[in-house]
Amino acid sequence: MRHFLTLKDYTKNEILEMLELASKIKIETKNRIFKDYMPKCTLGMIFEKSSTRTRVSFETGIYQLGGIGLFLSSNDIQLGRGEPMSDTSRVISRMVDMVMIRTFEQSKIEEFAKHSKVPVINGLTNEYHPVQLMADYLTIQEAGLDKDLVVAYIGDGNNLAHSWLMLASKLGFELRIATPKNYEVNQDILEQALEFAKESGAKITISNDPKEAVKQATVVTTDTWVSMGQEDEKEKRIKDFAGYIVDNDMMNMAANNAIFLHCLPAYRGYEVSEEVIESSQSLVFQEAENRLHAQKGIMVWLNNQVNQEKTK
Ligand code: CP
Ligand code: NVA
Repeated sequence: MRHFLTLKDYTKNEILEMLELASKIKIETKNRIFKDYMPKCTLGMIFEKSSTRTRVSFETGIYQLGGIGLFLSSNDIQLGRGEPMSDTSRVISRMVDMVMIRTFEQSKIEEFAKHSKVPVINGLTNEYHPVQLMADYLTIQEAGLDKDLVVAYIGDGNNLAHSWLMLASKLGFELRIATPKNYEVNQDILEQALEFAKESGAKITISNDPKEAVKQATVVTTDTWVSMGQEDEKEKRIKDFAGYIVDNDMMNMAANNAIFLHCLPAYRGYEVSEEVIESSQSLVFQEAENRLHAQKGIMVWLNNQVNQEKTK
């Protein structure tokens, strides 16, 4: 049973296959052609953290594929009152066809997947946000920037940075991550990415120098300085991230045709300036829409795997 918990578990070909499916279904969707790729399938969507894009894109996506989404906020299900992840998984996965979870530690989603009878998709954990990266790469492909790609990630060494590490090291592009001191990426995840990079040819650089990282980059990206669950550290983080705002000065150091990406929600005046996010270089709303399309590609791909297993 294949789950989609991190890009670490996927080959370059598999990632590109899912994206190809996503592009194909996107064109159909734009023409209002809705094929029943997943007829009568139910997607359980468990949320232990807030969401705008993840919830709307998964719920809309599964509906457009011929199925239905169940929004399960942990405040409303017994998980929030202490029912174990393993029991929740064994119950829900007997009733639905696929599960998406947004939670805290990656170990929680792994625990759920271990007990699940159906594919589990990571809708964000403290460590990773793989579905976001699929939408980001689809946006990069659409912008025609997937050849000679150089991505500069400026900001926190968080779940987004880790997912960029996985994507770059699997697909083999150049990634430069610049974080403030003490906000570096997780060392184990970095080492794993460097291992994958040996095979893919990815060039990965880690520094505390955003200006160096952004030089001639073709994609500039960042994320909030205060992730969900870090609200108490807000004041300290704002001080520590001084100099890491992606503003016009920063974008001017990137390549002329560079684009700006942000998973959203964005905090203007902190990690990105108003001018940059509202500029013509910013593709953040196309990127947000691509959550819908990329995730449809992922769901259909996983569902195809399940169907193939059944016929074996
Ligand atoms: N980018 C993203 O995952 O957005 P939401 O938190 O709104 O789902
Ligand atoms: N790093 C952010 C991403 C939000 C989509 C967080 O985890 O809150």
